[in-house]
Amino acid sequence: AHCTSPNFKHKQKYKQWVYAPTPHQRYAGLNNSNIFIDFSRRQLGLSVQRSKGGKMKAIDRLIAVLDFSTMEEAKKMVETLGDSVKLYKVGLELFLNSKGEAVDYLKNLGKEVFLDLKFHDIPNTTTMASLFAARQNVKMFNVHASGGKKMMERVAKEVKALNPNTLTIAVTILTSFSEDDIADLFKSELSLKELAMHWAKLTKESGMNGVVCSPWEAKAIKEVCGNDFVTVTPGIRPAWSAANDQTRIMTPAEALQNGCDYLVIGRPITGAENPKEAAERVLA
Ligand code: C5P
Repeated sequence: AHCTSPNFKHKQKYKQWVYAPTPHQRYAGLNNSNIFIDFSRRQLGLSVQRSKGGKMKAIDRLIAVLDFSTMEEAKKMVETLGDSVKLYKVGLELFLNSKGEAVDYLKNLGKEVFLDLKFHDIPNTTTMASLFAARQNVKMFNVHASGGKKMMERVAKEVKALNPNTLTIAVTILTSFSEDDIADLFKSELSLKELAMHWAKLTKESGMNGVVCSPWEAKAIKEVCGNDFVTVTPGIRPAWSAANDQTRIMTPAEALQNGCDYLVIGRPITGAENPKEAAERVLA
């Protein structure tokens, strides 16, 4: 047998390949064997996670949103949702109000985290923040693509070296911007959509794993950046739920057909009378 993964060592004593962390990974506290099985699978190309996205289970694609300002509310929601949700989005509101505790809380429960803090700074500062996310072994975190290619290249490279399990995601243009805002700010001839697509390409070229985008753009982004490029999409509304302030929405089924890998769903679940039942209905 031959294996090129740095996490595999052939132990003569056991006459088999075993998983072992590199010193860099051990420093990051990543010495849990499950993590290494996952690293190794990915390195051996057996992971179904990205390239064979179609085989991912629905529950692994659902990101429920914890937009709360206290840990009490967040904990209550996580307890209510129980086994129906595995992956949670923690944004600035909960992360700051809980002084970071929300991430530890979820990881200790065996949940996965999308750390939605949208880092935007010089390459060194953004990279140090990103390495924090990688050390927490979050499933994914994000930066602003407008921080530039040099920033994203360094983030992608260093996060991959520390923890290849953490997906590096970029935000292109915030949906709060209008065409006029963009023209005003960037003095660019490009339309908002063209600029968002251009930044998605830069994100891909920088070695990052994917972008946050509208479900309406996911297909075009996959066509330009490749099928392995991850799309994380808010603006998802099951047919039975209210649109709230979201405008360009899609149902979960439509989103999956249109190249969305991860579906970010907030109020249809957390605002439902019975959140667990709502999550189960989304997954059904
Ligand atoms: O409740 P709802 O499903 O609309 O929540 C969607 C989540 O995704 C919220 O946390 C929202 O801030 C976030 N988001 C979004 N649209 C974007 C980017 C992020 O709705 N373009």
